[in-house]
Amino acid sequence: MCGIVGYIGTRDAYPVLIKGLKRLEYRGYDSAGVALLNGDTTIYKKKGKVSELEDYVRGKETKSTIGMGHTRWATHGEPNDVNAHPHQSEKGLFTIIHNGIIENYSVLKKTLMDQGMKFYSETDTEVLANLIEYIYTSEDVSVEVAISLALQKVVGAFGLVAISSEDPNLMIAARRSSPLVIGLGNNEYFIASDATPIVEYTDRVIYLNNDDIALIRRDELILKNLVSETTKVNIKTLEMSISEMEKQGYEHFMLKEIFEQPRSIMDTFRGRIQTETNEIRLGGLLDVKDQLVNAKRIVVIACGTSWHAGLVGEYLIEDLARIPVEVEYASEFRYRNPMIGPDDVVLAISQSGETADTLAAIQLAREAGALVLGICNVAGSSISRETHAGVYTHAGIEIGVASTKSFTAQVTVLTMMAIMIGKEKGLLSEQRFSQLIKELYAVPAKIEKILELNDEFKRIAEIYKDASNALYLGRGVSFPVALEGALKLKEISYIHAEGYPAAEMKHGPIALIDANMPVVFIATMDGSYDKIVNNIQEVKARNGEVIAIVTEGDTIIREMADHVIEIPKSDESLVSLTAVVPLQLIAYHIALMRGCNVDQPRNLAKSVTVE
Ligand code: F6R
Repeated sequence: MCGIVGYIGTRDAYPVLIKGLKRLEYRGYDSAGVALLNGDTTIYKKKGKVSELEDYVRGKETKSTIGMGHTRWATHGEPNDVNAHPHQSEKGLFTIIHNGIIENYSVLKKTLMDQGMKFYSETDTEVLANLIEYIYTSEDVSVEVAISLALQKVVGAFGLVAISSEDPNLMIAARRSSPLVIGLGNNEYFIASDATPIVEYTDRVIYLNNDDIALIRRDELILKNLVSETTKVNIKTLEMSISEMEKQGYEHFMLKEIFEQPRSIMDTFRGRIQTETNEIRLGGLLDVKDQLVNAKRIVVIACGTSWHAGLVGEYLIEDLARIPVEVEYASEFRYRNPMIGPDDVVLAISQSGETADTLAAIQLAREAGALVLGICNVAGSSISRETHAGVYTHAGIEIGVASTKSFTAQVTVLTMMAIMIGKEKGLLSEQRFSQLIKELYAVPAKIEKILELNDEFKRIAEIYKDASNALYLGRGVSFPVALEGALKLKEISYIHAEGYPAAEMKHGPIALIDANMPVVFIATMDGSYDKIVNNIQEVKARNGEVIAIVTEGDTIIREMADHVIEIPKSDESLVSLTAVVPLQLIAYHIALMRGCNVDQPRNLAKSVTVE
């Protein structure tokens, strides 16, 4: 949540910061601000988008070669100019931007107020700024020591950048649980909450670890831990291109990312399937393969769309590899007393690799002695580093807040894992193995064909754009697709939508059905086809409007449904990869027609780094 960008070097900081904030806006977009240090610190901040901040600053003084910027997703205090970051300490000696939550902020605030300090915002961040200043003035320590001492008193998460007029050639960055990456240039450094603002300047980066403090001057970077011991700098090379971060002619990132799926799926399986030897080789899992193959149980932990991918994984792994799978919301898993031990394999799924609940659940599973694996999209992210081993989805950067290509890439990895384990356990014949691989290879072309129906999806969207509610129904592996379709619609169009197993409809949701209720069925030809046909009839008998995703050539459902969307036939195990695409596009068009901000839906942010 929230985006951080910082710069110290020889060029004008402000353009670097504004450009960086635009790149980061997908992480939070309720307010934005910059602080520029040029002897004194100048702060500009505004409620609203980065462009509103830019308009506000236009014509004002921005001269500075040290500065930082922030785009906010509110936690403490409503989005307004005062609560926007950066925050300054009472006497103006320290200015900070911060991601995460200071959990003990009210105790700290009270202590500081008892000392006579004044507060102007409702944020936890201002408390931290004042705490640093209080320590600095009362204990007569250096800027660096004041910041480390303050951070030692903090309970909670922080990705923090600080500047001080007391040491105007120093920028300090520190992290606990909230990611920060530093780009290394020539006598210049770039700091950000992810690499997107950095990539156009350098590909040499350092990912801060928990409780690292980086002391950055133009000509040196020193890394320390919270108790001021110097730690090792580990420089990595960024694998990301600027063009990936552009819309490339598409109207929205979400649309681009939906259309990228044939490529992102291919990139995810390419090089991992050895057709000559009939093998699936997931490099990241080689060291733990035996443990995975012999697992008695796999527990998937994830949130949101990644949790839906996990449900598809449950179906695939139980069906093809015969290992019992439980799929847990990370947020629930971490707060009960889960029965996890050294015999379990825990599989964390996350696009961003930074979701706070998933990270905490990983920690808990590690402490319980489980083998913890990850499926993650962002290289170098916290989850990719906290898990024992894992597999990257090669979906490429996903900027649209609603996940699309990361879902299909996650399902692709889960499919490969299920096939690999099934093969290793001798459960899949050579013939079934080859058939599944062939089917997986065929998915990108099938999605291309579905994408060609975009105008048809637009037509359906036009009909249902004013609906107040929608129901999505599927059976078996199509049930998680129904959940995902409903999530896509509600998060970007604000239409209330529910996903249900089709058979559950009779146990409650059927009461909702009337002529105003669009019901989307994922009704492809599989083992439960006849059952789903019955469910469609039940909806039609109550005047519901049926939109059915069917297998190409289906004539039976065409007779009953109001609209049919034909998708190419595929193996039942792989149908989620294709069936989800029309649902993504229908949600996209409906949201657009309702005038919603498709890439940045209200109240949401790309990665939920607070619990
Ligand atoms: C929905 C969506 C969210 C994320 C969820 C988990 O479109 O994007 O539901 O799937 O916040 O995020 P990651 O996968 O980054 O852990």
